[in-house]
This record gives sequence, structure tokens and C-alpha cells, in this order.
Amino acid sequence: MGSHLIESQQISKELLLSFFKRADKLRENQEETLKGKILTSLFYEPSTRTRLSFESAMNRLGGSVMGTENANEFSSVSKGESLIDTIRIIAGYSDVIVMRTKEEGQARKASKVSSVPIINAGDGKGQHPTQTILDMYTIYREIKHLDNLKIAMVGDLASGRTIRSLCYLLGKFEGIQITFVSPPNLRIEEDIKEYLEKHNVIFREEENLEEVLPICDIIYMTRIQQERISLEDYEKAKGRFIIDEFNIHLIRQDARVLHPLPHVEEIDLSLETENSDPRIAYFRQAENGLYARMAILEWAINGSKKNYENQS
Ligand code: NCD
Repeated sequence: MGSHLIESQQISKELLLSFFKRADKLRENQEETLKGKILTSLFYEPSTRTRLSFESAMNRLGGSVMGTENANEFSSVSKGESLIDTIRIIAGYSDVIVMRTKEEGQARKASKVSSVPIINAGDGKGQHPTQTILDMYTIYREIKHLDNLKIAMVGDLASGRTIRSLCYLLGKFEGIQITFVSPPNLRIEEDIKEYLEKHNVIFREEENLEEVLPICDIIYMTRIQQERISLEDYEKAKGRFIIDEFNIHLIRQDARVLHPLPHVEEIDLSLETENSDPRIAYFRQAENGLYARMAILEWAINGSKKNYENQS
């Protein structure tokens, strides 16, 4: 059997770099390495990019895809079936399961009973490791280094799973400096701070975005996760930190703005700026997701047999 991908901590530097190499290669030349294999996508939360890029990746590698987009309504979970039973059954029909759940820890639970690889495509406020791989791939392509990175993480740092996963992976690199910029009610949580301290990552918390913009290589923007917080918290937080036509000049020309998307009011730029300013990298980031996920699927299904370092 291949490999589960549940959390960022399990990704070694070597594995990450082998994903980049493979993704670059697949961008140039498509190969049907997963012919005859079947991916099931099981999404209990909304998704556009993650699900469709996984499905496109599988199709491009010669495999096929089945799944249910709104698994709460359209799967037997709506009849009261446990997730564990659902996974046991689906594992018998497919070669890999890509899943997104509302609750943290569900992907790990699924991996305990699944006879095929489980890929965590977001578990509540938990993690989103494939997003992190494509985020790192984008940073690597855009600014050519991962060590000695000065990165700002902006927005809802308390409930953003992309932030959590990114912190865990950055902890494996040298000379990382993170500036967290969030409303006071949605600060980065203690467990992440402890992890970063243990891994010698320098970090600080700031509330003045304009002071942070000029000093960073990467500005990683995130949306306030309205669906995960109270209305009161949302009202307090929304619109606090925005990249717009008035402050974009503060960002260095060689720096990049990333965003896992979807973006809402935290990005307020004209179409013209979004399309032509080289500092705006989030559409390229979304495209990189396709190639990164092709590499991830090959690794998860075919494992270290071909093209990949061993995970351990
Ligand atoms: C993110 C997610 O689902 O966590 N989106 C994504 O996968 N590209 C970010 C978000 O929803 O804000």
C-alpha cells in the first residue's frame, strides 16, 4: 500500500523537494503513471480549487475519479452511517481517498481503517497539508529560496488550517522569521507558538500591516473564516487587514503576495493589478496546485517505488 498524507509534520525536506522536481517535470510532460487507478473525493465542506485540482490531476495522470461533492447530503452519512464505515467501504472501491471534513482529526481516524491511502484535503481547523506543499512550491518558484524567509501571515490565524500547516512545515527550514498579523480575537494559537519556539523559528505578533509589508519576502493573506467563528468575532475582525491600491506600493518588487483563496474583502485590488502586477502570485499559486497534486497522488499511490524518496 502507498502512503497517507495527514499532516505537514510528516513531510521531510527531501520529500518536499522531490515533489517540486516531479511537479516541474509533469508541468513539461504529462505521463499516464496512474492509469487504471481510481480516486474517490469525499468532501464534507465546500471546495473549488482543492477538489477540482485533485480531480484534474488524477485525470491527467491517466486515472479516473469518482466522488461526492456534498458528502453530508449525498452520501450515506446523511442516513447516519459513521465516517469510519464509509471509509471502509469506499477503500474497497478505489485506490486513494481525498477527503475534507468539518471536524479536526477525521483524516487521521480514517487512515486507521483505510486499506488505501488517505489524503487530508482539510480537516476543520486542523490541517491542510497539500495546500502547504503547493504554497512552498510557489514560494520556491517565485523567490527561489525556502531558508531565510521573512514571511507575514495575515488574517484569521486562529481558525485557518492553511496557516497551521504552513507553520509546521516552515519549522523544518533554517532562518525563518514569521510576523503574525491578526485581529486580537483571532491570534495564532499557543500550540503553534510552542512548536515554532522548539524549532528555532523567530516570530512576533503585529497589528500594523503597513509596518510589516516592506520587510517581508512573502505576504500570506487569509480570509476570516466566518463559518468557524461567532458572528461577534467575525464582525470584530472583518476588514481589519486589507491589501489594496493604497498600500500595495509598500510591498517590495521582489516580494510576493500569496493567498490560498478564495479571497474576499482582504484583497481589494483592481483586475488590472491582479492580472499584471508580478507581486500578486495567488493565481499562479492555484495553478501550481495542479502539478503539486499530481506529484502527491503519484507518491501516495505508487509510493517510493518510483520517482520519490522514502517518506521516513
Ligand atoms: C482554504 C481552505 O479550505 O482551508 N482554501 C483552499 O483549500 N484553497 C482556505 C479558505 O477556505 O479560506
